[in-house]
Amino acid sequence: SVLPVIMAGGSGSRLWPLSRAGFPKQFLILSGDSSLFQQAAQRINGLDSPEFRVQAPLVVGNSEHRFLALEQLHEIQVEPGSIVLEPMGRNTAPAVTLAALYALEQGADPVMVVTPADQTVADLAVFTTALQQAVRVAAHGSLVVLGITPDRPETGYGYIRSEPDAGAQASAARVTQFVEKPDLATAERYVADGHYHWNSGMFVLRASVWLQALETFRPDIARATRHAWAGRQIDARFVRPDREAFAAVPSESVDYAVMEHCPGSDFDIRMVPLNAGWNDLGAWDAVWQVASKDAQGNSAVGDVMLQDSRNTLVHATSRLVSTLGVDDLVVIETPDAVLVADRNRSQDVKKIVSRLDTAT
Ligand code: GDD
Ligand code: MG
Repeated sequence: SVLPVIMAGGSGSRLWPLSRAGFPKQFLILSGDSSLFQQAAQRINGLDSPEFRVQAPLVVGNSEHRFLALEQLHEIQVEPGSIVLEPMGRNTAPAVTLAALYALEQGADPVMVVTPADQTVADLAVFTTALQQAVRVAAHGSLVVLGITPDRPETGYGYIRSEPDAGAQASAARVTQFVEKPDLATAERYVADGHYHWNSGMFVLRASVWLQALETFRPDIARATRHAWAGRQIDARFVRPDREAFAAVPSESVDYAVMEHCPGSDFDIRMVPLNAGWNDLGAWDAVWQVASKDAQGNSAVGDVMLQDSRNTLVHATSRLVSTLGVDDLVVIETPDAVLVADRNRSQDVKKIVSRLDTAT
């Protein structure tokens, strides 16, 4: 069977001041009329097919947001299987490990479809077809990543080099290189090369395959996470790994911990292309990109008045915000903090957040 796993424990600091520790970006409504987390849950719910049984989704997120997650799922009438609550963030490798341990405990070795909760996808039919292909490939024991055709040298993504494989029916391109978040010069080279895809952050593999790969490349993370899982407490739908043991788990992403090491190893890593209008709403310029805009390229949410302004994103939550004679700005207004930024500097909002963090 197939187990959808939604990773929803990130902090989303580049979308400050709308995204806050208590209400991070995946739970915000940034495009359309549901949150990114709700969109992820709905997308993955559409995977169901006569070919394989799709279980209720498993959410792995931060304990602090448990009611937010539950309430948002309730709003869209998605019943989660369970919600695994991390006492603190340890990045995605431990999160996926908790999901795999949960899955194996149910007695089967399902194909996990792991998805971030901070993206938008325009074409659901194409998305579903690609993921179903990925499930077929992963059922044979491969690790499958979903690749996006890049259109700029984005340094916040992973890059995948692949070569076509003329093998059996359930085949997909073989990944020959995986590079997480390269520097700009390297990213430019990869985009110009034409053989690279972005890593979408979604991946599909059997629970047992994840654990074997992690044991191989990062036995320290595997051991520490198993220890935290062994001490878990179950509280209705919530599963809580042991706090002290989880605090000792090394913090690392899936990409650095496992994916980068797979090409050239004994693990079979494949890529299925995803041409479904994918967008990672990582920073404000990406939110502006996907937003509906007026003829001058402005996007406004809330009580906003724009005069002679262009290519500007304004988000007002509690007051009237007006702009006059400005281009390429981001203005985000909240009751206790306002951001005014050059739209092209959106990635650097995390610098402000880290200064705020050290100040408090
Ligand atoms: N449960 C849990 N626990 N989830 C987490 C944690 C954690 O500690 N940290 C992050 N997440 C969730 C985030 O909420 C998000 O939905 C997803 O995991 C991915 O984490 P990000 O922190 O947003 O990763 P990224 O965007 O820097 O990079 C990843 O995604 C890119 C595409 O968007 C990588 O996989 C890149 O290779 C990829 O290109
Ligand atoms: Mg992200």
